Amino acid sequence: MNIIGIMAMTKDGVIGCSSSNTGLPWYYPEEIKHFSFTTLNNIIIMGSKTYYFLSKKFLSSRFTIVLSRQNNIKLPFATICSSLEDCINILTKITLNKPKSKIYMIGGATIAELFIKSQLLSYFLLTEIHYPYQGDIHLDMKYFQNCNKIIITKCKNYTIFLLKFKHYLLK
Ligand SMILES: NC(=O)c1ccc[n+]([C@@H]2O[C@H](COP(=O)([O-])OP(=O)(O)OC[C@H]3O[C@@H](n4cnc5c(N)ncnc54)[C@H](OP(=O)(O)O)[C@@H]3O)[C@@H](O)[C@H]2O)c1
Repeated sequence: MNIIGIMAMTKDGVIGCSSSNTGLPWYYPEEIKHFSFTTLNNIIIMGSKTYYFLSKKFLSSRFTIVLSRQNNIKLPFATICSSLEDCINILTKITLNKPKSKIYMIGGATIAELFIKSQLLSYFLLTEIHYPYQGDIHLDMKYFQNCNKIIITKCKNYTIFLLKFKHYLLK
């Protein structure tokens, strides 16, 4: 099983702004297209806080897994997992029926940290936003320091990198 991270952040590790309508401090339509196109019809995993920022149209055209510890929570267009173990078990079942689907961990910071620290990610598609936007949700850039980095796209406002993690537990 191959789980790939896909997120955008500034060089200072800002990934979100909880007071913004979108949850993000920036708006780059082409970057959103990259995210939408890459994840379309695939499996996406996210934390419950990220879920609320995404449209029903977006969620329903992907197999959406949401991590939440809330008892009996039901969210439209989503399968709920109460723990990381639960999530891996569900992924194992789904991928049997959808062997061609890719699996993307899309954030936010809490869930990204959980997956990175647990060495569950093989690659990371990281969009580095060039402008130093301010925000209140951060991901520590130290997690990417030892990764091999390949530039996928570079434009005026951001660069998209493919990062390969050296240690990866799932096979
Ligand atoms: N720039 C980007 O690429 C990007 C990507 C995604 C999100 N974001 C932004 O990031 C922000 C949200 O990130 P966040 O870190 O605050 O929240 P988050 O990671 O989206 O969600 C955190 C929630 O996940 C659940 N959770 C955490 N650990 C769990 C575990 N081990 N087992 C089960 N459930 C677990 C809990 O939900 P319950 O409270 O329901 O129990 C927790 O409150 C938003 O501003 C969003 O827009 C940015």
